[in-house]
Amino acid sequence: MNITNIAVLVSGRGSNLQSIIDNIENGTIPHAYVKVVISDVDGTYALERAQHHGIKAVFVDPNKYENKPGFENEILRIIAQHDVGLVLLAGYMRVVGPTLLTPYKGRMINIHPALLPSFPGLHGQQQAFDHGVKVSGCTVHFVDEGVDTGPIIIQRCVPVLEDDTADVLADRILEQEHRIFPEAVRLFVQGKLTIDGRKVRITD
Ligand code: GAR
Repeated sequence: MNITNIAVLVSGRGSNLQSIIDNIENGTIPHAYVKVVISDVDGTYALERAQHHGIKAVFVDPNKYENKPGFENEILRIIAQHDVGLVLLAGYMRVVGPTLLTPYKGRMINIHPALLPSFPGLHGQQQAFDHGVKVSGCTVHFVDEGVDTGPIIIQRCVPVLEDDTADVLADRILEQEHRIFPEAVRLFVQGKLTIDGRKVRITD
């Protein structure tokens, strides 16, 4: 496995994917390559973004497989073709099962739009907004067997303002996602992250 070869799993618009591609292209993440983008939803803008940058873009239809291991084995097969050493979940809206996780444990990173361990799962921004928090944010973390429970790499706080709607808050959080996700990827591909129990040690 080559840690500078990256696969990105997506389900939607792909703005986080774009931030990774941009930071690779402008040299902020040196010597890294997005080799393949895989979507579990057909026709996503994320797939278009990948194609626009000459990156292989693949739709894997979950309905074509009898079960989750079958679906995840197909993803593994595609990833293996590209000698991938880092898998990014960039708005991938499925819980990763053991079939896909086990071979990539410690090499799979997710971006989540809330300050974990608060508000895991879907719609983290809306959950935080509805709860009435005064501060929310985003988290980049290694993926483990739980839902958004893995060791935290970077977090960034975002204030909730008096006139916010959930959408306005989500946009403010997204701006920070686009900063901390590429930063975490840079640290990973430069070998500067060490998982130590629940903690991620950063030597930058
Ligand atoms: C992002 O806000 C990401 O944090 C979130 O989905 C959005 C995807 O946007 N991910 C999750 O909620 C995962 N549970 P994008 O497709 O523009 O990157």
